[in-house]
Amino acid sequence: MLSVVVLISGSGSNLLALLKAAENPLFPAKIVAVGSDKDAPGLVHAELYEVDTFVVEPSRFGSKEQWAATLLASVQHHQPDLVVLAGFMRILPANFVAALKGKLINTHPSLLPDFKGAHAVRDALAAGATKTGVTIHYVDEGVDTGEIIVQSEVEILPQETEHALHERIKTIERALLVKTIEQFALKQKDLAKA
Ligand code: GRF
Repeated sequence: MLSVVVLISGSGSNLLALLKAAENPLFPAKIVAVGSDKDAPGLVHAELYEVDTFVVEPSRFGSKEQWAATLLASVQHHQPDLVVLAGFMRILPANFVAALKGKLINTHPSLLPDFKGAHAVRDALAAGATKTGVTIHYVDEGVDTGEIIVQSEVEILPQETEHALHERIKTIERALLVKTIEQFALKQKDLAKA
């Protein structure tokens, strides 16, 4: 069973999709804890599923590195095989990223390398793009620059608002994230057998 820690900052609909998938006893991954950088609304999903939560707020620390070291300790406490950034809206410094190399993935609402950063959907619309999508990728020291694991395309409709487009992207994103984590878990199982 793949142990997963999920980090969120927002509504946590991707987290909820994972929690629902993991309810199925045949799903090969378990969400062992959910962390956030603030009292995010999405933490309520973890509480309802009786999954441990932790909040590590940057404002309580003297530096980004100190914050990240405490966040890392909270994550490591749960001994995860995989850490998923699902709408976690902070840039993680090198000490955090290096400690979780190969085990840290992010989901991003664009077809990377296009439209990196916090306003990917808005930026795609502003650029007049006709398609965008979702990318799930490993996290490295850059912002949305890590190795791409999987992508899925979404067509942009004429006159579409940022909110409507983001909601359509998120529908695809949730399914892709669940599938990707399932595949990670199956791969880990195969490696354990070999
Ligand atoms: C997702 O689209 C994620 O890619 C982006 O923020 C959104 C989070 O949505 N960074 P939710 O909190 O999972 O509903």
